[in-house]
Amino acid sequence: MLRLQSRLPDRYTTASPDELDAWIGAARASLGSRLLILGHHYQRDEVIKWADKRGDSFLLAQYAAENEQATDIVFCGVHFMAESADVLTGDHQRVVLPDLNAGCSMADMADLDEVEEAWEALGEITDIDRVVPITYMNSSAALKAFVGREGGAVCTSSNARAVLEWAFERGDQVLFFPDQHLGRNTGYDMGYDESAMRVWNPRRELGGLSEADAKAATFLLWKGHCSVHQRFRPEQVDAFRERHPDGVVIVHPECAHDVVEVADRVGSTQRILRWVEEAPPGTHIAIGTEIHMIQRLATDNPSVHVESLDPLVCPCSTMFRIDGPHLAWCLENLAEGRIVNRIVVDPETAEWARVALRRMLDIT
Ligand code: 13P
Ligand code: SF4
Repeated sequence: MLRLQSRLPDRYTTASPDELDAWIGAARASLGSRLLILGHHYQRDEVIKWADKRGDSFLLAQYAAENEQATDIVFCGVHFMAESADVLTGDHQRVVLPDLNAGCSMADMADLDEVEEAWEALGEITDIDRVVPITYMNSSAALKAFVGREGGAVCTSSNARAVLEWAFERGDQVLFFPDQHLGRNTGYDMGYDESAMRVWNPRRELGGLSEADAKAATFLLWKGHCSVHQRFRPEQVDAFRERHPDGVVIVHPECAHDVVEVADRVGSTQRILRWVEEAPPGTHIAIGTEIHMIQRLATDNPSVHVESLDPLVCPCSTMFRIDGPHLAWCLENLAEGRIVNRIVVDPETAEWARVALRRMLDIT
């Protein structure tokens, strides 16, 4: 999907960090309780420091759904998160994404046409009423609406297991998109093995599967992945353990299963944060997730030794697009009564996406 951010006026691109801070602070103060800034853990320090609430994607969706007072919600995260916030908030509330190019490459790996084609193909060989579609939060509102209409739900990395258990009370097969790794890791966590799982390749007929395989698989896992998390490897875990035999390895469930299998803990960004904060002083911790979050955890928790599992830096380039200039630009516009970069989900899509998101919020 093409989303184009217009070029910022020079005033913002040439400003010093101190000027940007002063402008953001002043606009925020003038907007007062009308404004709610939500920030995902992967945001840069210069942005996250302004967030009223920080969290993983589940918590941020909850904050958006619960807050009825703020009319202007500035979402420092990526496009699918802002869309979900728009779906979960009232008509009197507006959601703004500071940079429209802040998408998610994983979310872009499944689109509505492909998923509808998969659904139709499955409908020709199975009892489609026994297939439950589950979409990861990292997906467009159109896909959330699709699962809402078809009796499925949304999940995040913090509740995938609970949502899949809910799904298997309703059907025998799950079509899980777009992240194969979260689906596979959760399936293993629930006691299934690889024989219950098949990868659905949307570029091939019937997902590249034989009819027998497509019918037999308990989990049909969409062939999507996160390029940030796919960088982590079991060899990096071995290398860390060689240096720190008592160290702890924590990874995000978007990592491949061979890494998850050898890690000590696997969880959402919020859980990673909690585990680091609760670790005994002196613990060596290697983390497999986005680098800005890891660097912040290292600074904020000086009693433990935090490092990235991957010695090479692995930022999420789309989260990184939200910066001080874009935040200052959208807040100053809001303070002057102009709304820039509003994220609006059309009413019909929003209605069904809300069904799927609400199911998730009710399950967890
Ligand atoms: P969390 O829900 O764990 O914050 O993950 C979101 C995400 O995009 C991870 O790549
Ligand atoms: Fe998407 Fe990966 Fe970035 Fe998360 S880290 S927002 S899944 S590209």
